Amino acid sequence: MSNQGDSSVPLLAGRDLVKAHGRTEALRGASVELRVGEILAVTGASGSGKSTLLHCLAGIVRPDAGAVTYDGSRLDQLPERRLSELRRSDFGVVFQFGQLIPELTALDNVALPLMLAGAARAEARVRAGAWLERFGVRGQEGLRPGEMSGGQAQRAALARALATGPKVVFADEPTGALDSLASEQVMTSLVHTARESGTAVLLITHDAQVAAYADREVRLSDGTVAPAGVAA
Ligand SMILES: Nc1ncnc2c1ncn2[C@@H]1O[C@H](COP(=O)(O)OP(=O)(O)O)[C@@H](O)[C@H]1O
Ligand SMILES: [Mg+2]
Repeated sequence: MSNQGDSSVPLLAGRDLVKAHGRTEALRGASVELRVGEILAVTGASGSGKSTLLHCLAGIVRPDAGAVTYDGSRLDQLPERRLSELRRSDFGVVFQFGQLIPELTALDNVALPLMLAGAARAEARVRAGAWLERFGVRGQEGLRPGEMSGGQAQRAALARALATGPKVVFADEPTGALDSLASEQVMTSLVHTARESGTAVLLITHDAQVAAYADREVRLSDGTVAPAGVAA
């Protein structure tokens, strides 16, 4: 049964997650819940396991132990093919350096996931243009990532992550490489669009100003989640 729309039930949950990279135990029993439309900040020192937690929750990496539940089903037990489909239809991701495709223009970078989701090229490009405009990347549609500023490229990456209408956006230090003005513009765009579309956001950051945009904050320490606090 789908629980989407019922904000009392978590949309995405990781329970008692354990994940080792070789001999390093990145996660040692981390539990976290994300509700429909919620913006959750995950903070913690470098090396505390934030990225590993995001990768487990987004189905990019399988945990060694514990469970990831998405919309009432076990995500960590899905076969690879179904996991890929789910990631494409329901999730959007953006990393510290947007990971736009360098050979493609901003417009084609945003159009690509729309085409993968079945839109015809012309329609995908029209929708991509509207998304870029929404993120304030107007007039830069024809530029390649290397020709844009860091802030512009990150906003284009956000447009790409949100264009397919995901239920969850995973953002791993999305403003980590930006100055404070660009960071504020990126965060304002992200939060505004997520609120408008009811998209949940798992936001990793070590910047208190960025965490302040979230509804709630949890702190990772040595691979476990500290008791939930409320973001300032
Ligand atoms: N692919 C990897 N191979 C080996 N060690 C890794 C790998 N990824 C992460 N680690 C280690 O796992 C721990 C947690 O890393 P990570 O999840 O990236 O933390 P954070 O994002 O909070 O900085 C760190 O000690 C890191 O060095
Ligand atoms: Mg990290």
